[in-house]
Amino acid sequence: MERIPEPELMEEKEQVISYDEADFSEGEFNLINQINHYLLRKNISLSEKDLIVDLGCGPGNISEKLAIKWPNTEVIGIDGSKEMILRAEYKKNISNNQKKLKNLRYICSDIKDIRSDNFLFTKEISLLVSNSLIHHITYLEDFFNTIKSLSSNITVNFHKDLKRPLNEKSAFELKVQCSKKYNETLTNDYYASLKASYTFKELKNFTLENNLSSLEVFEDGDKYLIVYGNV
Ligand SMILES: C[S@@+](CC[C@H](N)C(=O)[O-])C[C@H]1O[C@@H](n2cnc3c(N)ncnc32)[C@H](O)[C@@H]1O
Repeated sequence: MERIPEPELMEEKEQVISYDEADFSEGEFNLINQINHYLLRKNISLSEKDLIVDLGCGPGNISEKLAIKWPNTEVIGIDGSKEMILRAEYKKNISNNQKKLKNLRYICSDIKDIRSDNFLFTKEISLLVSNSLIHHITYLEDFFNTIKSLSSNITVNFHKDLKRPLNEKSAFELKVQCSKKYNETLTNDYYASLKASYTFKELKNFTLENNLSSLEVFEDGDKYLIVYGNV
């Protein structure tokens, strides 16, 4: 199936609310566990000196879980959509875990505009994460250039995203499954996202052709892809 790009930023209030109100917690906890296992395998423990950055953080679902899992670190969630950042800040302020989220802050910025020498960061990034971001990015080089410029030799990258279905029929079947659980706005966004997603081959080839072969690309079941490692 041909890739059909979708708008990068999620700026419509209705889509922001639909996304935020959906329960993706199972997949989100899975991702935190996957990152944790990877860090344990690499013998890395995160503490006060460490900075975690969550790119395309949306309403902050993953940022909050990262901040709670590694409470001594500093966590920054970044999103280019003002609506999403407002939602993330609102959720943080009304959270039952508010005390545990003192280490978390949000920044509204397009990922293409951030550089590691930017005043936004006071230290090197130890863990650079994204979830469901890559498919939004129109040109893969924009995503990889960003993570390259934000990474140093201490930065562990861990990016999870949807995998493009093999054909229209599979994409449509996934859309139907989604519609049984979620509202129309979210279902339409999910369908657009499936079509905008990259394939394993596209991500793998990009890393091989652009001197990024230190990054691994991994198929996580039949629906997801993970890009991880050091840049
Ligand atoms: C599908 S949501 C995922 C949100 C969050 N990571 C999560 O897992 O719940 C994708 C988010 O990426 C943001 N985004 C897309 N392109 C971006 C860009 N170029 N710069 C910053 N944020 C971007 C969108 O605004 C949206 O909030």
